[in-house]
Amino acid sequence: MPAEIITIASLKGGVGKTTTSYALAAAASLGGLKVIAIDLDPTGGLSNALEKAKRTVTIADVLHQRVSLQDALMDHPLGIQTVAAHRSLNEESPSEEQLRRMFDGVLEMCDVMLLDTHPHEPSLVGPMAVADRIVIPTALDILSLRAAALTVGIAQQLEVLERIRGIVVTNVKRPMSRITESLLSGLTLSGLAFETVLWYSSGWILATSGRGDPPGDELLLQSKMLLRELAARPVPVDALRQFISMAQGRRPREARALSH
Ligand SMILES: Nc1ncnc2c1ncn2[C@@H]1O[C@H](COP(=O)(O)OP(=O)(O)OP(=O)(O)O)[C@@H](O)[C@H]1O
Ligand SMILES: [Mg+2]
Repeated sequence: MPAEIITIASLKGGVGKTTTSYALAAAASLGGLKVIAIDLDPTGGLSNALEKAKRTVTIADVLHQRVSLQDALMDHPLGIQTVAAHRSLNEESPSEEQLRRMFDGVLEMCDVMLLDTHPHEPSLVGPMAVADRIVIPTALDILSLRAAALTVGIAQQLEVLERIRGIVVTNVKRPMSRITESLLSGLTLSGLAFETVLWYSSGWILATSGRGDPPGDELLLQSKMLLRELAARPVPVDALRQFISMAQGRRPREARALSH
């Protein structure tokens, strides 16, 4: 069976896309699945974390058919395979067709294909269109939530709304204000979102690379729970539609309240 493609997407930077991608790749790989993680972000956070060494072949070479994805993939000690990112993805956004061509033959070689993305609308279209599952990380501030809602809007335009498996709330600072707390419980109760506590540290990267002590139990547990939750949860299509309307205009009083 071809691999399931999971795209981690948001129009906002710094909301936890790379951390979520890394944690899912590590959890899937430690759970015995064969994982390919593709870094479509020109800043290269995921491929840097996965493998700092070989940089001679990049995703740009694969995109322009100078080399096949299969030949470009490098091995991470944990068993995850990846390819280095390239800054030229700032100027060009791989289309659905280009991605499908890139993945041709390779999807048969793995169980999960993870796509980390660039927070920029044209760059999200291809990766969201090819995805079997879409994960949207967000923080709880108004700009991040609006970006998450706009990202859901892209999925609706692409007619892949039902592929959104979760809006993952990251980076919640505690103690929470009353407003943040009620916002989080509202999002959770509607089935739209759930919180995941992950973190990104050189220790976790070394450990999951087999070059340090085994990853901390708590982080590994959180990552595995996230992977399971994404596989099992139903898609709240109505709540997603309502969430999109939030991005199309929030009443000023609510917007002010949320920004505190
Ligand atoms: N689930 C989480 N829980 C707590 N903190 C998180 C979580 N996910 C990410 N973070 C923290 O948020 C910060 C930004 O994360 P990350 O680099 O993964 O974001 P990003 O969306 O990939 O950013 P960029 O768009 O710049 O690539 C990091 O400091 C990370 O440790
Ligand atoms: Mg990133």
